[in-house]
Amino acid sequence: MKTPVVIAVAGAAGQISYSLLFRIVSGELFGLEQPIILRLLEITPSLEKLHGVVMELNDCAYPLLQKVIPTDDSRVAFKDADYVFLAGAKPRKMGMKRKDLLASNALIFAEQGKALNEVASRHVKVLVTGNPANTNALITQRNAPDLSPSCFAAMSMLDHNRAISQLAEKCGVRSKDIKNIIIWGNHSETQYPDLHHATVKGQNAFALVEDEWITEYFIPTVQHRGAAIIGARGLSSAASAANAAIDQMRAWTLGTQNNDWVSMAVFADGSYGIENGLFYSFPVRVSAEGEVTIVSDLQIDAFSLMRMQVSERELKEERMAVQHLL
Ligand code: NAD
Ligand code: LMR
Repeated sequence: MKTPVVIAVAGAAGQISYSLLFRIVSGELFGLEQPIILRLLEITPSLEKLHGVVMELNDCAYPLLQKVIPTDDSRVAFKDADYVFLAGAKPRKMGMKRKDLLASNALIFAEQGKALNEVASRHVKVLVTGNPANTNALITQRNAPDLSPSCFAAMSMLDHNRAISQLAEKCGVRSKDIKNIIIWGNHSETQYPDLHHATVKGQNAFALVEDEWITEYFIPTVQHRGAAIIGARGLSSAASAANAAIDQMRAWTLGTQNNDWVSMAVFADGSYGIENGLFYSFPVRVSAEGEVTIVSDLQIDAFSLMRMQVSERELKEERMAVQHLL
């Protein structure tokens, strides 16, 4: 058995966490040889509910789970944390845009950024899920100036998985047959799910589907999937969000395989003309040591560039709205 890793989860009594926590400690994140110490953060009024979650975790008798520390103090939760899932934030309701949540959620991430700066491992990986995820990642990172910007990412993997699933269904193949989908931009309705480089069983996806299906069905379906789930369930996605959080943190830590890539919203470095420092979703490859590289030199046509820039503009507007916290 390896040395235990410390995994912190904020919003630990929430919907996403109710799926995420059990999958983390069952070994789905880092495998069956990796023991885990869980640090669970909630607001004070939800501690009793969190106590119930802790009882259930204990009742699973997971061999990998060494210790669970529930708390309402972010400095206790993030102490020496190696991996952090930030899912402690309000979800939107029907009719809202994710950016409407900034008013209620932005401060949470400023506070959690400060706590991470003080107490987390200097090599921590912080995955921001709470919406609006990209701008919350920016707020968190800016409030943690002693940590490298590469310690932070926002979740694009749910959009990435949604895009894979739509293309797989259209082509009558399995999700494993789809490679090199890209989600560009913000986790919002301006995101751009791009099929130009995607392959289906090794064949270019563009040759297999009609242009009209891409523009009239595929792109809007992926862009609006979160709202469609809220419309159907009355609650925002939770199990699929937890699944994506596991996929993204696993890829970020253990690396991407076979020259394939995934989409992650990371600190922009000027690639593709996107402004430095925004948290923008790019195609990335990750080394076995967990080092992320934005896939470079992809051909971008005018249609794609226009959509990429629309999403960049929205991120700049969101940034403007939280300038006081940066
Ligand atoms: P939820 O309301 O079920 O759970 C959120 C939990 O966070 C609650 O238990 C709440 O008490 C807790 N919380 C609130 N403020 C906190 C704080 N300061 N510190 C710690 N915990 C705090 O919501 P959910 O369905 O689990 O969703 C959580 C967030 O994730 C929402 O913002 C939602 O919009 C977002 N989300 C993002 C994606 C994505 O792809 N990025 C997908 C699904 C949901
Ligand atoms: C999603 O994409 O499912 C989440 O961001 C939740 C939402 O508000 O859409």
